[in-house]
Amino acid sequence: MRNITEEEIRELIETAMAQRRFSYAPYSGFRVGAALLAEDATIYGGCNIENAAYSPGNCAERTAFFKAVSEGTTEFRAICIVGGKEEKATEFAAPCGMCRQVMMEFCRPDFTIILATDTKNYQIFSLEELFPMGFGPKNLA
Ligand code: THU
Repeated sequence: MRNITEEEIRELIETAMAQRRFSYAPYSGFRVGAALLAEDATIYGGCNIENAAYSPGNCAERTAFFKAVSEGTTEFRAICIVGGKEEKATEFAAPCGMCRQVMMEFCRPDFTIILATDTKNYQIFSLEELFPMGFGPKNLA
């Protein structure tokens, strides 16, 4: 796990909770918000964006990553994810396999993944823990 302060954790959780309000999830009703902390301290928000054709839908985490990368940022320290069907999240929403693969592309094994329901209830994992033996850029070097 990377060094991350209590203050940074709180800000990431608050941002992910706020981003959740933008979630477009009329089909699943599962609304997710993400907050991605870049090495330069910028926080990129993201929400899930569903689609009537289903497949084009995008997760909150990848929305945040793609926003950042499309603006020239490719180095990251941490991401926070808040999601669920209820108005207030009651359980942790862990990133799907496709999002873990996108993290593998840009993040080190000690990249911090914070799963939260609110600022008082969260759990911290590393990318290596959630995505062991992932296939990444090094495999193609
Ligand atoms: N979803 C996310 O945005 N992130 C996750 O970590 C898990 C799943 C979204 C995709 C879809 O819009 C909805 O949640 C239900 O799967």
